Amino acid sequence: MSQVSARVLLRAAGVAVLIDAPDGLLPALLHWGGPLPGLTEADAAAIAESSRPVQSPNDVDTPARVSLLPEATTGWTGRPGLQGSRNGVAWSTDFRVTEITFNGTPLRGFLSAGPGVLRFTAEDAEAQLTLDLEVALSDGGVLTARAGVRNDGTDDYTVDSLTLAFPVPAEASELLDLAGRWARERMPQRRPFTVGTHLRENRKGRTGSDSAYVMHAGTPGFGFADGEVYGVHTAFSGNHLHFAERVFTGIRLLGGGELLLPGELRLAPGETYTGPLVYGVHGTGLDAVARRFHGVLRARKRRLSTRRPVTYNVWEAVYMDHSLPKLLRLAELAAGVGVERFVLDDGWFGARRHEHAGLGDWVVSDDAWPDGLSPLIDRVNELGMEFGLWFEPEMVNPDSDVAREHPDWILSARTSWPVESRFQQVLNLSIPEAYAHVRDQMMALLDAYPIAYIKWDHNRDLVDAGDQTRGGRPAVHEQTLAYYRLLDELREAHPELEIESCSSGGARVDLEVLQRTDRVWVSDCIDPLERQVMNRWTAQLIPLEYMGSHIASRHSHTTGRRHDIGFRAATAVFGHLGIEWDLTEATEEELAQLTDWVAFYKEHRDLLLGGDLVRMDGPDPHQFVHGVVAPDRSRAVIGLAVTASLDALPGPRVRFRGLDAERRYSVRPVRLGAPQGGLKEPVWFGAGVELTGAALERVGFTPPIINPEQAMLFLVDAVD
Ligand code: GLA
Repeated sequence: MSQVSARVLLRAAGVAVLIDAPDGLLPALLHWGGPLPGLTEADAAAIAESSRPVQSPNDVDTPARVSLLPEATTGWTGRPGLQGSRNGVAWSTDFRVTEITFNGTPLRGFLSAGPGVLRFTAEDAEAQLTLDLEVALSDGGVLTARAGVRNDGTDDYTVDSLTLAFPVPAEASELLDLAGRWARERMPQRRPFTVGTHLRENRKGRTGSDSAYVMHAGTPGFGFADGEVYGVHTAFSGNHLHFAERVFTGIRLLGGGELLLPGELRLAPGETYTGPLVYGVHGTGLDAVARRFHGVLRARKRRLSTRRPVTYNVWEAVYMDHSLPKLLRLAELAAGVGVERFVLDDGWFGARRHEHAGLGDWVVSDDAWPDGLSPLIDRVNELGMEFGLWFEPEMVNPDSDVAREHPDWILSARTSWPVESRFQQVLNLSIPEAYAHVRDQMMALLDAYPIAYIKWDHNRDLVDAGDQTRGGRPAVHEQTLAYYRLLDELREAHPELEIESCSSGGARVDLEVLQRTDRVWVSDCIDPLERQVMNRWTAQLIPLEYMGSHIASRHSHTTGRRHDIGFRAATAVFGHLGIEWDLTEATEEELAQLTDWVAFYKEHRDLLLGGDLVRMDGPDPHQFVHGVVAPDRSRAVIGLAVTASLDALPGPRVRFRGLDAERRYSVRPVRLGAPQGGLKEPVWFGAGVELTGAALERVGFTPPIINPEQAMLFLVDAVD
């Protein structure tokens, strides 16, 4: 077995990664962070030399080497990258790299390059395993890693865990990740990066409303603009984990991978398991980190246009009460205010007149829709709107034809079914017949009707998700892959189809599902007060054009709060705009205001959905300032929201960054609809004001006095 060496510097978009794989050892990152200009081979060698650890007293005689996949054989006593065994043996690995390629070409020695893909093949002859490790830097400076392990032995090898980890420096001493729950997704939490492991395990079989989302480490107090920040995201929509680990030697790692259940991943001889992509992003401040992440989806093969169609979703207007005359009226009202896509939600199929029955029978209900969906769809199309339809493909109510006919298709680890959630169970898509059932029923509808859009829901966690046809073996891994396959198959058959990833609101938001879907439903809570926070943090990973953001009813169905249309709309326009409100109850005045807001959105969506996100760290936590700057810095939209009483009135001056320091910009308040509650305007409002980019950032402007739970927008245009 020949062992190879390489040392590689990859550079892209202000990020440098120095990777060291000497003498057959697995690749380790000597540096991941800001640029290293002019670095020569000798300089890289000097970094490697000067980075060699000192043997600390009472530690292993040769200091442990921490590669992207740390191994216990090097003396590492932290989390090993690969955990597994052959029935209790071959559980410790010592991989030796036998082949390295860069963009497919064999590599030896030193390479300094731009973005590209490195591939390391490594073998452990004793454990009889081959490792395939891919490390890449994208044009946008995003680091990714993915590992696969092949069983070369003659008996089964069980993978318990395969995780990858990126080192961060000691200065990154504070952690930030996300948490949450239904209707309150992606709430930030901070803590010091202390010794031990901050482990975020997800065992929900979906990404989760409380997912860690991005595990950040940064210099103390890092904010949207400041601090050196590293963020890691595990891109997987099934069980997965994120961790931040600090060991006694001071080494700090951010890592992630799939979470595998007991015995879930047993490799027969010759079989390979490949884990999810783990993304790593570095930048100054959380906005820079977010912007790099946004680049991932913005560089996706299937690009989203910024002209995202304004959507009307009927859910909070009618729930499951599907009456054609009412829906036709809603379609007319929606078209009247400027809507471009009309979505029929839950309740159109099988016995689904209520949430206790029908899920899993994807056939239009004769009861609710005696003439099929055409009377609605035809009218929607006639009104110039696309039609979208809700599905929850993985789910069944026990009271459904499919569950009655195929009880063994339900995911279950034991002889009795798992505890119900929303009166439903989960269909085992790894059973070919169950998969075909869902696919064929969905395809039949897509073939029968002009459906431009699917809202793909997934409303419960996977609990005790075993395969009954295989003695109850864990099946979340297979289920997740089958879900991806089904998305791919539908998209291949209907290339123009758009799919929204919804999961009781925002419980399936990650970079893998968004390679296959075009929008997420951020949350079932459309209360703008809550959405100010949820949208702000959802945008830490995904760009605004992927975030479903609706103008809801006057009174929020999930919180009971009441808000006027100004706050609802000024919050919702920073996203893929929709309306979810029983418009038959809206007043003429409200409909007129809504029309104005939709027109405003259409006029500015290129900017709102195509620019760079800016979030300000203001001095008053209840004054939210955020916005979007055009890539050429010629324009911006600023949003100002007051979420609770401010300490002082009129509140801190509004400062905004991201524009050209020396250019002069006109700043004008956006006046839409009736004046908002409590508005007291500063003198400059009348004529607007011209400020340089530097003045906007360093001096700012006096805001109006607005009541709590109000928002307004400002348009910023270069005047040169
Ligand atoms: C989930 C979704 C909602 C709606 C309902 C229908 O909760 O997030 O938007 O589609 O399911 O049951």
